[in-house]
Parts: sequence; C-alpha cells; structure tokens
Amino acid sequence: MNPNARLTRFVLRPGSRLRGAVAVPGDKSISHRAVMLAAIAEGKSRIRNWLAAGDTEATLGAMRALGAAIERHDATSLSIKGGNLRQPQAPLNLMNAGTGIRLLAGLLAGQSFPSVLDGSAQLRRRPMKRITEPLRLMGADISASDGFCPIRIAPAPLKGIRYAMPIASGQVKSAILLAGLYADAPTTVLQPGPARDHTERMLRSMGVSVTAAADENLDASERITIEPKKKLQPLDITVPGDFSSAAFLLVAGLLVPDSDLTIRGVNLNPTRTGLLEVLEAMGGDISVSNLAEQAGEPIGDIRARKSALRGVEISGATVVRMIDEFPILMVAATQAEGETIVRDARELRVKETDRIAVMAAELRKLGAVIEEREDGFRIVGPQQLTGGQAQGHDDHRIAMSLTIAGLIAAEGAIINDAACASDSFPGFAKTLADCGALLRPD
Ligand code: S3P
Repeated sequence: MNPNARLTRFVLRPGSRLRGAVAVPGDKSISHRAVMLAAIAEGKSRIRNWLAAGDTEATLGAMRALGAAIERHDATSLSIKGGNLRQPQAPLNLMNAGTGIRLLAGLLAGQSFPSVLDGSAQLRRRPMKRITEPLRLMGADISASDGFCPIRIAPAPLKGIRYAMPIASGQVKSAILLAGLYADAPTTVLQPGPARDHTERMLRSMGVSVTAAADENLDASERITIEPKKKLQPLDITVPGDFSSAAFLLVAGLLVPDSDLTIRGVNLNPTRTGLLEVLEAMGGDISVSNLAEQAGEPIGDIRARKSALRGVEISGATVVRMIDEFPILMVAATQAEGETIVRDARELRVKETDRIAVMAAELRKLGAVIEEREDGFRIVGPQQLTGGQAQGHDDHRIAMSLTIAGLIAAEGAIINDAACASDSFPGFAKTLADCGALLRPD
C-alpha cells in the first residue's frame, strides 16, 4: 500500500443531512473465513461481494502464499480452487488483521509443515496467548514470543479437547474449531457468552458436523462441538453486508438533523446485532425490512431516521453481541438524554487500540465529556460537540466513529489518519458523501 495513503484526513463541514439508500461492503468476519475455508475445500469455491479491504487482503495474500489457487474476477468476486496447503516461503504477514492471524494459527496448527505468522507493529501489541494456550492443549507445537506475534508453528498431531474459554471470543473459538478439523477426536468449546458464530455456520454449509447446545453447568453458556473432517465441500456464497460497517451509517442517520437513511442487504446475525437493540432501547427510530437469508446468515435492510435518544445501561451478553460497536455507541451516547453506562467491556482495551482510552481522548478533543472506567465508560448527555481535530490512530473503527462525531460538531472537524477506514470499509467517505455528508477526503 502507498504509505502516504495512510495519511488521508477527512474534513467535515457543519450542516450535513443524510438521505437515501446505500449498501455497505461485505462482512469482514465472513470474508476472512471464506478465503481460509475455500482454500482447504475440495473443489472450486465461488465468493461474491467479498470484502476487498486492508485486513481481508492480508488474509487473502497469506492464503495465496500457502498455495491456494485464487482467481480474481474483480475486486470483490473470487474463485478459489482448494486443496492441500503447502509450506510458505516466508513468514506470513497478516498486517493489522487480528482475525486473520488468530484463525489462521488454528488452521495451520493442523498442517504437516511449519509456518510463521506475523503482522504490523499494531498487531504485535495484541495478545496471542488466548489462542496459543488452547492450541497447545490440543497438542499443537506453537509458540508466541512473550504472548505476542510472531507466532511459530511446527507440525504436531492434534487431539480433541474440551475447553472452557475464559472470554467470549469469536476469534478464539474459531481458532480452536479450525484446529479441531485436524484432531483425532471431537473438540468441544464452552463459551461464556454469545460470540459470533460465522465459523460454525460456514463449516456446517461445507459438510462439517458442528453442534451447539446449552451447557447445563454454566450460566448463559453454549457448548460447541466439532467432528474432525479433512474433506470440506466448496463454498458458493454472496457475502452479506457488514453490520459493523452499517453501524456507522445507522448511528449517523439517527444523529444528523433531518436524516432518513436506509442501508440495504445487511447481515443481521443475532450474535452481531446488539447495537440495533441498544439503539432501539435508546429511542432510535429504526425499522428493519426485506428479511431474507444469504450465505447461511439472516440479512435485511435497516432504515434509520433522526431521533431523540435517551441514555441506556449495557453489560453482559449484549456487550459480546456488539463488541466492535462501542466506539460508535460512544458517539451516540453523547447525544442521548441522561446517563449511558457500559460495563463488562474490558475486551475493548485489547482491540486494534485501547478503544476505551483512545475514543475518550479523541472525543474530548471534539468537545465531549466522557468518564472512562476500567471496564467501560459513563457519558451524560446530550452534549453539544464543538469540533476541532482528532486522530484515527490507525484503527478503522476509531477513525469512522470520529468522522460521524465530526458530522454533528457545531464547527465541523478534521479527522487525521483516517485512511485506515479502508481496513474494513473501503469507500466509507464516498458512501457518506453520496448520502449528503459534507465530507471531503484531503
Ligand atoms: C471477530 C471477532 C471479534 C471482533 C473482531 C472480529 C471475528 O473479536 O472484535 O473484529 O471475526 O471472529 P473477539 O472474538 O476476539 O472478541
């Protein structure tokens, strides 16, 4: 990537009004999984509306280096001829992609060749013990320097285990399930909360037995069991729109005066839509229509109109179901009447950045008052954001959330280091501008 591209800033003028119907790019979580699983399937997979963005391109590059035959029809449309993976010539660089490195570590733990997984300086700061520990329990020969990448993997026979995850993480669960394909017996993962289930859905569609059942010993927990299987059927999917990308437009529609915005074809998987329910509880004028199924996932259109919001309290399972949406929820909370309190959200501190600290600091630069807490935050609104300059910190969701905050700032705003938006939402600025946002990339 052109290093200067990372320096793009978004200049926002006051007075936007958002109208119309738009689509968002394909789901990031599903796009990562689709290229990994297509690469090990027997036969040719077809993937449409694939997310061509920084994080997923890193995973695609890694799969190519592992020998997958990838045919690119256009940016978002791929054919992948799967089969046996082969030893890569060099360490695999997953750039900023936490999902890419953690899932791939699970997949590679079961291969007959050694590999090294690495990434950007940002990725090297993110915890990897959460996957190396359970994979070791399965017998994997895997190590991470002090719990951080690079991760080194050597071939080793894997055994089926029963593992209770200490945190509700879709990435950790998926790494274990992918290794479970290569184990000598079924593997069971117990999850303490409703982590996203895209891996389970996709594996089932490829002929793998993955069952989920309530666990009688643990409260609000699920037990997921995978049977080992080396021969997967190919995929033929159109990736649904990413709810986590739609979230920025959804909140913008609720906050920007005189707005009425529809986002089409969005993934409505219930493990992902916690924000939708929270915004409804806050009084958001939201309607969902055109419900359908696509790629084994529920989808629909979301319409959001300018609304008077009130504060809300969020904790427990809802946090897991909206884990990537707290930066944008923070922006919504500044505009809600009364108190918004978030608890049980400590995981936010180990995302691309410490999203509690970074969002609080950057929103303050635009005039917000935010109380940071160890496992969340408290915001009392409504607050008139004034404006100014804020930084994206090479974290896509921070940059996009600040951009939405800038849209409602009295004096407008400049969001620096905003090119990272394209790590998950290529065309973010254009999509917003097409709806009427007074936004200019610079
Ligand atoms: C993801 C899982 C989540 C999420 C990330 C994508 C995935 O991380 O934050 O953006 O695709 O499995 P955790 O599962 O670690 O919470």
